[in-house]
Amino acid sequence: MNPRPAILIARAVFPEVVARLREHFEVETNDTDEPFTPAQLVQRLQGKVGALTTGSERISAELLAACPQLRVVCNIAVGYNNFDVAALTAARVLATNTPDVLTETTADFGFALLMATARRISESEHFLRAGRWNRWALDMFAGAEVHGSTLGILGMGRIGQAIARRGAHGFGMQVIYHNRSRLDAATEAECKARYVSKDQLLAQADHLILVLPYSAGSHHAIGAAEIAQMKPSATLVNIARGGIVDDAALAAALRERRIAAAGLDVFEGEPKVHPDLLTVPNVVLTPHIASATMPTRMAMANLAADNLIGFLTQGRALTPINPEAL
Ligand code: DGY
Repeated sequence: MNPRPAILIARAVFPEVVARLREHFEVETNDTDEPFTPAQLVQRLQGKVGALTTGSERISAELLAACPQLRVVCNIAVGYNNFDVAALTAARVLATNTPDVLTETTADFGFALLMATARRISESEHFLRAGRWNRWALDMFAGAEVHGSTLGILGMGRIGQAIARRGAHGFGMQVIYHNRSRLDAATEAECKARYVSKDQLLAQADHLILVLPYSAGSHHAIGAAEIAQMKPSATLVNIARGGIVDDAALAAALRERRIAAAGLDVFEGEPKVHPDLLTVPNVVLTPHIASATMPTRMAMANLAADNLIGFLTQGRALTPINPEAL
């Protein structure tokens, strides 16, 4: 009898998902959930044909050269900037991600962060907890209006569109967006969103939310020059990826009140956070949790497992990134 294929689950996942994978494969887990160093990951992948990964596992050309048995890597994330896709394709290794199952949950969080930022929720809670609230005042923590304001969206994929629908239909916002490619007319109408240039987006948005994928081309898409184009009353929300915003430039702009406030779920070099962001009051900081509800995280892990099982048992993955690898 042929031995069962061996796979690695690189980070701790739900027991139900591990059990599903054990029905098909010899499974090695990482029960400590401590991210592997690149060398440890190479070592753990020896003899493995498949892996379940998260954004913390970098799949590089060097790793692929050192792991010639690997045939498929399944990210438990919609973003896959931890994958060198060209190297994966050249090595004929299939890569998959988890689109769709997190769209609405992530859009909910984007809106929550936008509202917390505009209405100064974290800042005012810190004030209260510090025992500094001794009287009510008319202008106390007066923030920016959300309803009826102009919502700017940079990156208009599935999550951007779900945010646009919330803003336009739920809060009566004027929605403007910029994207590499313009949406078709029917989708624009359904999202009530108007396409503008990036310069117009920066200049007109009362609240600017970033939902674009990270790539070399989007590195520091928002830096000092872009922030200078924004209204002094504007807020900036990043639920996309660290590195899209120049965090040092943003912290300086927030400190000098060149924009009103920011809400950040992702950071350059996370889990480290730029120290200047930790000391400015007008920023809401969360630890990369935009898709974090139990049903959604379960759906993401199950979709990644479905991709692994489907590909290794039937040669078919549900959500491949690089089908040309085959
Ligand atoms: C995603 O799915 O890309 C989330 O950011 C989690 O990594």
